[in-house]
Amino acid sequence: MSAFSRIAQSPGLAVPVLLLWTLGWALASAEEPADDVRKGRALYVSQQCWQCHGHEGQGGVAGNRIAPTRYPYEAFARLVRFTNLMPAYSPKVLSDEQLRLIYAYVRSMPEPPPLEEIPELDFD
Ligand code: HEC
Repeated sequence: MSAFSRIAQSPGLAVPVLLLWTLGWALASAEEPADDVRKGRALYVSQQCWQCHGHEGQGGVAGNRIAPTRYPYEAFARLVRFTNLMPAYSPKVLSDEQLRLIYAYVRSMPEPPPLEEIPELDFD
């Protein structure tokens, strides 16, 4: 008798086995953050972007919201390299490769929900 038919014939085993299989499948298919996003987040922290733009790029007292960014990479890089109010990051301080990784992180952030869908902001 195969393992599969043994499980199928004993309902006591089938339920936990099915639950484990479902759990395993759910964990395996959960989206892993891409390696670039992970590295980009580490750079975002070490390069101090969070100090002004917040840890999730949500914006703060000193810097505006930058995530999720809608800029194509070229525009994003230009804003970081040649800015006005922000300290500019030259390629000597932040390489193009590092900037690309930060861009991957900032781009990976999910869109916030529409204001109407945030119960705390419903004053009616
Ligand atoms: C000292 C505070 C500070 C730090 C640190 C900082 N920023 Fe900024 N950033 C700003 C401010 C202020 C602006 C608005 C600049 C302006 O309008 O001229 C800005 C603007 C930007 C913009 C343009 C946003 C827009 O829509 O116009 C991007 C992109 C950006 N920052 C990315 C970054 C990244 C990436 C880092 C880290 C490598 C970083 N910033 C670090 C303060 C900061």
